[in-house]
Order: sequence, then structure tokens, then C-alpha cells
Amino acid sequence: CGIVGYIGSKQATPFLIEGLTKLEYRGYDSAGIAVLNGEKIRVEKSVGRLAALEEKIESNVPEGNIGIGHTRWATHGRPSDNNSHPHTDCYGDFAVVHNGIIENYMTLKEDLLAKGHKFLSDTDTEVLPHLLEEVYNGDFEASVREVIKRIEGSYAIVFMSKNDPDKLICTKQDNPMVIGLGDDENFIASDIPAIISRTRRTYIVNDGEVAVVKKDSVWITNSLGEPITKKVFEVNWNAEAAEKGGYEHFMLKEIHEQPKAVRDTLASRIAKDNSAVVLEELSWTEEYVNSFSKIFIVACGTAYHAGLVGKYYIERLARIPVEVDIASEFRYRQPIIDDNTLCIVVSQSGETSDTMAAMKEAKRLGAKTLAVTNVVGSSIAREADQVIYTMAGPEIAVASTKAYTTQLIVMFLLGAYMAGLRGTVAPRRMKELLGKLREIPSQISETLEDVEPIKVFAKKYGFNTDVFFIGRALDYEVALEGSLKLKEISYIHAEAYAAGELKHGTLALITTGVPVVALATQKSVYEKTLSNIKEVKARDAVVIGIAAEGDTELTKYADHVIFVPNTDELLIPLLAVLPLQLLSYYTAITRGADVDKPRNLAKSVTVE
Ligand code: G6P
Repeated sequence: CGIVGYIGSKQATPFLIEGLTKLEYRGYDSAGIAVLNGEKIRVEKSVGRLAALEEKIESNVPEGNIGIGHTRWATHGRPSDNNSHPHTDCYGDFAVVHNGIIENYMTLKEDLLAKGHKFLSDTDTEVLPHLLEEVYNGDFEASVREVIKRIEGSYAIVFMSKNDPDKLICTKQDNPMVIGLGDDENFIASDIPAIISRTRRTYIVNDGEVAVVKKDSVWITNSLGEPITKKVFEVNWNAEAAEKGGYEHFMLKEIHEQPKAVRDTLASRIAKDNSAVVLEELSWTEEYVNSFSKIFIVACGTAYHAGLVGKYYIERLARIPVEVDIASEFRYRQPIIDDNTLCIVVSQSGETSDTMAAMKEAKRLGAKTLAVTNVVGSSIAREADQVIYTMAGPEIAVASTKAYTTQLIVMFLLGAYMAGLRGTVAPRRMKELLGKLREIPSQISETLEDVEPIKVFAKKYGFNTDVFFIGRALDYEVALEGSLKLKEISYIHAEAYAAGELKHGTLALITTGVPVVALATQKSVYEKTLSNIKEVKARDAVVIGIAAEGDTELTKYADHVIFVPNTDELLIPLLAVLPLQLLSYYTAITRGADVDKPRNLAKSVTVE
């Protein structure tokens, strides 16, 4: 989503619309603005693209010198006028725009409903203005602090109050927020592109900080209420670089967004004591899960690779047989399906034709359907019986990165959820796994910190014509994704093999100097993988190993080793895939390829 705010001596609406236009690439299922004019906050919102909102207000533009705006990428509640931001309280005294997820919104909402508040939307955001109304004591800033104390989750929020027409208040946690400094006017935005046509002087707001923004001053305090002196950050990016958050490509930006995407996807889905997975959107019973005699996972491209990992998770944890199919093959092979079959379709966009057609076929044959998708209200989400959303935010680069890791998270949650209902994982083991799952977002950040060695490999081996990826067990599934990434954006011929299968043919292709990326993170098959690595080494291949921290063996056989943080072998694909994403990215850069828009490929394929 995108957020903007304006306070100054000029009219607010022109900036709000202009700023939202610049942020539309971040989410575009609905948009809205709220402008304060003397006695009244006027809210205008509209489902659809920003143009629909512009058209709506064209003949009667909201007037006033203070306002907030939002362009939405739905997370809670489908795209609709009611679910669009800004949201207000019952009396229209407060208006709020918000990015992120308020994890404890259900509890807060129940409490507010009991106190007589009326809600108009299905969003988590709407609790914010109601909560503010509830705690407001005449001191806007103190009341906002009280709201912040009561909410949990990730957010960037701007609050506007009818009774305080000289200020906007904003705060953030794990979501970006920037304040643009003008002359006799100041701007707020979730992202720099929204403001750079007006000012290049900014304050970058940090987690927990609260900023009171007036037209001629900005007063920032930390989470304890102590004043902070901030350095002005002069933005010297051009408009294009600003859209990419200063990264050279969307793909690199999206790779680095993975800690947040994964954290958001996990948010409120693990019980506080790590004893179970909570999937409110499913509310399945033990009986219902036990009725599945077979599960199909059907998808295309990267989502198919996430499905392969999903099979592992569901079978290992919930002990239900799973078959994974490529969507374009599935429906032409007369799959054996009845009403005890669950068909899970995985699709980032929710619009892929082959996946949609496969789901319709499964439904026709009597299967229950569950969609795992990143786009609320997408065609696949609407067609499926039930949906679990990944919370990756818009993915723009054609090569999928953060969608894949968040799909893996959902697959794991699903496996553990079904296991919880079926009692197929011992309580101690479940606690251990979910505890480790919580650490994954920070382990992803840690893994993404050290890219220098990967850049060196990309330069050194980037002009080879063939690259092989090998691994066993989950390492094999990750190898498939690593090889697809490399093919897609660097145009190098890459192939992934189950390491044990090499000797049945492919070993003939391994000659002196051929790069082999060998994943050896799976402890249960570690020794076997090592022997396969020795086999390729004996044919003088160049081996780049991927291992878990603490591994002292692999360096003896591989030419280079990239270490990822240690975790359970079931969860390590979430980390092992990261160096492969980076390797393909930097290889494409070395070769001068168009990373975000590779030749012949499209982000969303709506033809069969
Ligand atoms: C296209 C994209 C791939 C993607 C696949 C499935 O081929 O280029 O990156 O994995 O479609 O897309 P979906 O939106 O269904 O996940």
C-alpha cells in the first residue's frame, strides 16, 4: 500500500493525488483521501485504480490545507469502497491511513464493539480511529501514544483529528515512513517517490518514533516520548531509483523485502506459546482434515517449486499423501479425484490461466479447493472454496523471490496446522519447530547482509554456458528454484538434479570447469550428498557449496562455500534459496541482462 499526508499553506488534494499516483505501483485495488476543512473531515474513496477516485472528485474537489491519502493493496477484506482507506471513527472526528497489519485487531474490535462502536469495513485498520476516539482526552499526541501502546503488529500510520487542525501525527513499526520538509508546508509518505517532486529534504522515521507534523515544524519523539534530533536526509535519487527504494532493480528490492514479507505472512498465525498454528481463515476440524485421503498441489513456475516443498511439509508433518502437479499438465492427465481430495493451488498473482483451469477441473471432479495467493480478490482467490494469503506485498520483478519464500511459509503453516489437528507431531517437536520458524525473518536479514562473495562468484562464473544445481531431499527442491532463477534472468542454461540421480546420466555432462552449485543443508542425507559432491569434483567441476553454519566438512571438497544460518532442516530452504536468488541476480547484472523484464517472459500469464 501507499500512504501520503499534507499540511501547509496550499491545498492538500493536489499533492495527495499526485503523491498517490507515484505510489500506485505499490498497490492499486482502491484509493482514498481525507481532507480537513474547518469543521469537517471529508472522506472520498473509490475501489479500482486511482483514476476512479480522481473522476469521482473532479467536479467537487475536497478543499482544505491538511489531508491524508492511501492507495491500497488488500490484506484484510476484499477490495471495495468500504474497505478502502482512510478510515474514520463513528463521529468522523478522526481519520487514519495505515500500511501493514494490526495483529491483535480482532481482540480490539470485539472490545470496541462491546462499547458500542459501529464498524463499516472488514479491515484491521478500522480499529485505529475507533480506538483513538475511545481514548481521546483532548491531547491528540498523548491519545495517539495510548493507541500505539495497545496495538501489536507492523504498521505505518498517519492520524488526523478534526479537533487538532494544525497537525498530523505519524508513527511506524517495520513499515517505511518518510517526512518531506517544505517551505510553510510538510509532507508525509510511505515512500520517497511520492514527495521528490516537491522536496528532497527529508526525515526518515524509525521504528517506534512518533512525529507531530505541523506546517512549519516537525517534532519527533522516540517510543518513550523523549525528543529526538534528526539529521535531514537529502534524497539524490531520480524518480525511477526512488520507486525502487534506491535499489537498482525491483528484483533486488524484493529480495531485500523478504524479512518483512515473511514476518507479515507469519503474523498472528502462530500461537503465543508456539504450541500450534492458528489459521483463522480455515477453521478446520480434526474430522474435516481426516477426511482427506489425498492432497494435490497444483501450480506453475516458481509457485510449482513452492508446491514441491509444500508436499514435503504436509507429508512429513501431517502424514497425508500429496501429489504435486504442473497446472498445464494436471487437467489433461485425468487425475484421480473425488470428494475426499483437497486441491491446493498456489499462485502469486492469482490470475494464471493454467492454474485457474486446473482448479476448476479439480472442483468439477468434486475436490475441495484451497488457494494460496498473494492478491486479495484475484480470480483464483474468488474461485477457490477457501484462501490463505501470502503477505508479500506487490511483486513487480518477473522473477519471483519474496512470493516464493512466503509461499513456503504458508505451506509450512498449513502442514503444521493439519498436523496439529491430526496429532501427527509431538507437542515438544511442534514447539521447537514453531519457535525456530519465528526466528526465520531475522535469519533471512542476516543471510542477506553478506552479498560480496556472491558478487565475486557471479563475475567469475557469469559467462559459463551451463550451470548445474544439485541437492537431495529439500535441497533438491531448492536447487530447482535456483536453477529456474538463473535461467529466467541470466539466460544461462541451468539444470537441477537430485544429487543421487547424477550418476544415471547427467554426470556425462560434468567436465572440467563446469560450475556445480551443490546444496548440502539436509542433515539426514548429508553424507550421501557429500559423496555426490566428490563425484563431480573428481570430474574437475567447480563446486560452489551451500551449507549451514557450523558445517566443517564441505569446505574440504567444495571450491567455495556459502554459509547460511543454522535452523531445522525443514526450515532451511527459506535461507538456502537466498544465495541462489542473489547469485542469479548478480550473474544477470554481470551479463548486462534486463533483470526485471527478462526476454520472452511475463509476470502473469493469462493465456493457456
Ligand atoms: C509466470 C512468471 C513466474 C511465475 C509463474 C506463476 O511464468 O514469470 O515467475 O512463477 O508465472 O505465476 P503465479 O502468479 O501463478 O504464481
